[in-house]
Amino acid sequence: MNNTTCEDCKLIDLTVIQTPRQGAITPIYNSVHVPFDIKRVYYLYDVPAGSERGGHAHKALQQLIIAASGSFDVVVDDGKSQRSFCLNRPSYGLYMPSMMWRELKNFSGGGICLVLASLPYDESDYYREYEQFIKEKWRNENPLP
Ligand code: TYD
Repeated sequence: MNNTTCEDCKLIDLTVIQTPRQGAITPIYNSVHVPFDIKRVYYLYDVPAGSERGGHAHKALQQLIIAASGSFDVVVDDGKSQRSFCLNRPSYGLYMPSMMWRELKNFSGGGICLVLASLPYDESDYYREYEQFIKEKWRNENPLP
């Protein structure tokens, strides 16, 4: 799916179960709360406050990104428009389709970025150069008259 746009990035309100002894639980089921089969889970932590991560796109990988602790912003970019999502509750999940450039910004102290991913890690699935990503993403577009 090359023709994804920022509009395909969706903030999903996950289920929140308030527990009797205070606190909350959010369960996530494969292919129910996420529109793909989860093949990998990873999390990013010990990120210094205020720092930035990301700066890449994936050819095929789909993800659900959650701020399991703290907060950060995810700026998505399809080469024609940008959107910024503030993830500041563990009950929000940001669905990221394939072929979207993303940057993670404004990490709070103690921020943990939990990622549910549709594929195992594969370096060849990455675009790490923005120009190359844009060229490939819109390569079937007719040039302007
Ligand atoms: P990367 O996805 O590039 O993170 P960021 O863009 O935020 O820096 O991952 C950083 C490094 O971690 C990369 O060189 C490969 C390694 N890595 C794995 O080995 N397995 C994984 O599942 C992930 C996500 C990264």
